[in-house]
Amino acid sequence: MNFSNRINNIAESMTVQFTPLIQRLRQEGKPVVDFAVGEPEFRTAQPIIDSTRKALEDGHTRYSPVPGLPELRTLIADLYPGCDFENIIVSNGSKQSLFLIFQVLLNPGDEVIIPRPYWVSFAEQVKLAGGIPVFADTIHHQPDVDLISGLVTPRTKAVIINSPNNPTGAVYPEKALKTVLEIAAKHDLYVISDEAYGFFVYDGITSKSLYGLAVDRDRLIVVAGFSKQYSMTGFRIGYVAADKSLVKALGKYQSHLSGNVCTFAQHGALGALSMDRGLLMNQKAGLEKKRDLAWSQVSLWSDCIRPQGAFYIFPDISRLLKPNETDSDFAADLLQKAGVAVVPGEAFGAPGHIRISYAVSENVLTQGFEKISGYMRLYR
Ligand SMILES: Cc1ncc(COP(=O)(O)O)c(C=O)c1O
Repeated sequence: MNFSNRINNIAESMTVQFTPLIQRLRQEGKPVVDFAVGEPEFRTAQPIIDSTRKALEDGHTRYSPVPGLPELRTLIADLYPGCDFENIIVSNGSKQSLFLIFQVLLNPGDEVIIPRPYWVSFAEQVKLAGGIPVFADTIHHQPDVDLISGLVTPRTKAVIINSPNNPTGAVYPEKALKTVLEIAAKHDLYVISDEAYGFFVYDGITSKSLYGLAVDRDRLIVVAGFSKQYSMTGFRIGYVAADKSLVKALGKYQSHLSGNVCTFAQHGALGALSMDRGLLMNQKAGLEKKRDLAWSQVSLWSDCIRPQGAFYIFPDISRLLKPNETDSDFAADLLQKAGVAVVPGEAFGAPGHIRISYAVSENVLTQGFEKISGYMRLYR
């Protein structure tokens, strides 16, 4: 079969690399603790379910406007002072939002600067749009602004910021974020701020959307969604907050790609925006405790920078590797011998690490770390 160069040039998402093995082990009756998942274990809250069910019963089962229900766009716009509904487009998860952005902004050969470690889809989506990902290594998981500045060329079109970060859980300080905005302003670059985990910040840090920090927002593109904060990963609702002309162009692309996002799922998102935030705050407090537990456990056998956001921890396991062993080999061995699934750092451009998601129940978290401790004693 002759497939396009476009598809041949990209790699499949490595976060699902071990799914078949996990399934096989479970079929064989071997329990697996899944620390590889990128979603919270919480049930979707009842007001969201009710709102979705009501939408179905009320007949909201047909096409709706391509950029999203006007009432949903308006409520999202309210989160960004100065925006109105025309600054917002709703898409099938923030993953599709990002895809649309690269398709709309990039010409072949345009470069996008991506701090590394990075979320798996950034580089592949840039390539799918004909662009070139340019990686900027971080220092202790924090952006190296001098390096970012030094990587700018006449072909640079955008810089991606993802804070709180997947996979490291790092939260970037205001100073670094402001400097990135200044670099972008100086060179007329877009800043694409992926704030999928914006709600999940700990240690008393208040959430720092780039939207609030930017002086000039013409070239700032904020991407966020309902998946993580509201435990709505399956609903597929993400959005972009940006300049109106860009939002219009994204809508033009989306009109040929998917049309509208599932209409009744958007009603679920309306339910999310009007629900009591107490439940969410409790969930966040619970995750902060799990972060503490994960951090104390991981520190027993690895060098690890303490994460302050999202729900991942990203230990450096390079000292634990045997000669010629990769982090993927390590992850496969851990899964087979201890029954714990993690994601190898290679998936995020950071070999020698593993990503652990601690957004699981307390029971599963304790069990998983007991299994890892046993594995370390026996095999490392
Ligand atoms: C950094 C980051 N951005 C975007 C996404 C996509 O999320 P969704 O498409 O569910 O909104 C994810 C999902 O894991 C992510 O980790």
